[in-house]
Amino acid sequence: MLWEKSDIIPNEIIDYIGKDWSEEWFHSGNLSNPEKIKKNMQMDENNIWSNYCSAVQPYIKGSKVLNNMFLGTKHSVPMFSWYKEGDQYGYHNDNYPIRNLFPNLNYTVYLNDDFEGGELIIKVGNVEVVTKPEKGKFIIYDSNLQHRVAPVTKGERKVMLGWMETEIKDSFHRNLCIEYSLSCNDILRDLQPRYDNNEEDLEFIEIGKRLANFRYQILREYGRSD
Ligand SMILES: [Fe+2]
Repeated sequence: MLWEKSDIIPNEIIDYIGKDWSEEWFHSGNLSNPEKIKKNMQMDENNIWSNYCSAVQPYIKGSKVLNNMFLGTKHSVPMFSWYKEGDQYGYHNDNYPIRNLFPNLNYTVYLNDDFEGGELIIKVGNVEVVTKPEKGKFIIYDSNLQHRVAPVTKGERKVMLGWMETEIKDSFHRNLCIEYSLSCNDILRDLQPRYDNNEEDLEFIEIGKRLANFRYQILREYGRSD
């Protein structure tokens, strides 16, 4: 499954972590991929990286969207990747231990969009879904989905990547719960104005409780308690 969100990290943080990168902070990305399908650069875990982590992690670890709707229980530290013209990353999945966790969901965050090519492409069934680069866009997808980065044809592509373990490990049941939570959120957001400044507030709260209760039933049935 695949989702896009744009409201997880504030724009000023995206600007801060995506500007003025220097090649001396980076190493070749293909060191971490023995199949040599990867041509990009990855940021060393240096002081700059620590500063970027400190800036961004409150919005990841503290994200109600990632933790409640996408069921995140454990977050990796972020990784920063830099693709110059001609760089790319061939098809692979991230369904193996990465950075002290066994990921269930991946995310890619575009830190800029003033480049051509360089789209994150995710294979769903036998269809290639091409995501449009938009600065600040957060793309969340199952770690077992095959994905690649198309060659950058003009400019430079900067992204932040991360991985999450989730409360429900099975992807079918997890997706069911995520879709339900996202739908509830939309329903409550649409209903809210009807109940604003109105003595029927209690009814609104009651609807919210009933929707939340159903979600707990899904979690109780399919969540893993280890
Ligand atoms: Fe990947």
